[in-house]
Amino acid sequence: MDNAFATQHKEELGRLRELIGQYRGRHGALIPVLQKAQDLFGYLPIEVQGIISEGLRIPLPEVYGVVTFYSQFTMVKKGKHQVAVCLGTACYIRGAKDILGEIQSRLGIEVGQTTDDGLFTIDGTRCIGACGLAPVITIDKEVYGRLEVRHIKGILEKYRED
Ligand code: FES
Repeated sequence: MDNAFATQHKEELGRLRELIGQYRGRHGALIPVLQKAQDLFGYLPIEVQGIISEGLRIPLPEVYGVVTFYSQFTMVKKGKHQVAVCLGTACYIRGAKDILGEIQSRLGIEVGQTTDDGLFTIDGTRCIGACGLAPVITIDKEVYGRLEVRHIKGILEKYRED
């Protein structure tokens, strides 16, 4: 395992090993262990998958297959702030693509990626039920509607100062 990862996550790794101990030998253990591991780490890097594979005695390709199959699992480390751009029809018609383009170029990342400073992750979402405010984005639990490209810079800045 990557030593830096082991040092940074000593406590979580200890809890993961305990968790695996509780589930070892149980039928259908993989999915609940992956869910709990994702709660612990925020994502499922290959190091964590390797420990689960060894601990539950399930081949790594099988663990990896499950992680990549289910959309609830992610191998990408999430940033401190989740920027979700609604790509539903109403938002799309009202310019969500340009809003997304602006966010991507300001943060220098694509959908599904996290900035190097760990501050932002961009996601695309389906309709969040606020079509009257289209185009809409959410950052964490905050909703921003009737957006124009020129608003994006100021909105992102607020989160840099937190
Ligand atoms: S399509 Fe974006 S909120 Fe409904």
